[in-house]
Amino acid sequence: MMGRSYMTVRALVLIVTLLVVVEYFSLLQSAENADKRGPVVFKLLEPGDRVGYSRHVLQVVDPAMYRVDRVVDKMVNNTTTISIVIPTISTGNLTSVPSSNLPQCSMIPPNLHGKFPVLVNDIPSMDDMSSQFPGLELGGRWSPKDCQAKHKVAIIVPYRDREPHLRAFLLNIHRFLQRQQVEYGIYIVEQSGNQPFNRAMLMNVGAAEALKQHAYQCFIFHDVDLLPEDDRNLYTCPIQPRHMSVSIDSFLYRLPYDDIFGGVSAMTVDQFRAVNGFSNLFWGWGGEDDDMANRLRVKKLFISRYPANIARYKMLKHGKEKANPERFKYLYSGAKRMSRDGYNSLKYKKVDFMLKKLYTWVLVDLPHLKP
Ligand code: BGC
Repeated sequence: MMGRSYMTVRALVLIVTLLVVVEYFSLLQSAENADKRGPVVFKLLEPGDRVGYSRHVLQVVDPAMYRVDRVVDKMVNNTTTISIVIPTISTGNLTSVPSSNLPQCSMIPPNLHGKFPVLVNDIPSMDDMSSQFPGLELGGRWSPKDCQAKHKVAIIVPYRDREPHLRAFLLNIHRFLQRQQVEYGIYIVEQSGNQPFNRAMLMNVGAAEALKQHAYQCFIFHDVDLLPEDDRNLYTCPIQPRHMSVSIDSFLYRLPYDDIFGGVSAMTVDQFRAVNGFSNLFWGWGGEDDDMANRLRVKKLFISRYPANIARYKMLKHGKEKANPERFKYLYSGAKRMSRDGYNSLKYKKVDFMLKKLYTWVLVDLPHLKP
């Protein structure tokens, strides 16, 4: 009797294991197939086009940034001519005058690889790596040399105590961004001391410090352990806030839930200001990105996304962080607080600051602010 029920249990365990393995492989397969579904079509949007109000849309071109003149009724060989005239860069409240006579970089960078192998082994030391990027300016800044970038992007990385991840991140991200022809600077914002990590507050600090230095148009908030796997995932300034880490290997390349805004996300300076930045009250893991998603909803901004077969990331391995038990409390009351808890209430002590070769380093002490 005992023997039979033991056999039944073993058979059940075997069946369940088989089902899990089959599901796992079919998920991997569907991600692979999605990648083979043909080339990405970049659509040129025009003023007046309805854009950005649905989720999961590919938004490559921001019509607000270009003056597009459509020459209607002018048919040459049955083709309507669409001419793009003098693209003007909108910088929100910062006016930028083209600083050189270089031509504008093309809308779709010419040297993209698509999906490429992410480098995770034999990462060089910081010094050796520096010599691989001779074109970098101090502080990890870069702009294309033969054309004028259309986007000025500050990459803000909240950070503590993950040096091997930082090296892997820098090696991959510099190569990736330079292929995309964006003008960028990398900001590593490190929290000093042993208090629980405050990712959101570090991102507020990064935004403040980056803007003190340069007239960036947008921020890309980036976890140090996420490495993009496809360079069609353009790190440009978004029309609507863009959640970029749509499919991550450790989540089996599936979006965990619709409103997720963590990992890697892009916002223009204006969008960031409109929601008063991130809350300063989330100490420890979790919730701060959900609070930002709530802020966006309150301000009638929408989360946009590139397709999942492009916005793919590899996550570097790390231990599990301690979840913040208070995150739900602050999440529920977030909307009420957002006008007084955020970028406008940010306080921090700058302990150190350095323009390193590969990045700008900001070391900060974060105070506990009153709710
Ligand atoms: C947390 C988020 C996190 C997400 C994915 C949620 O439960 O609140 O902060 O980004 O899980 O890990």
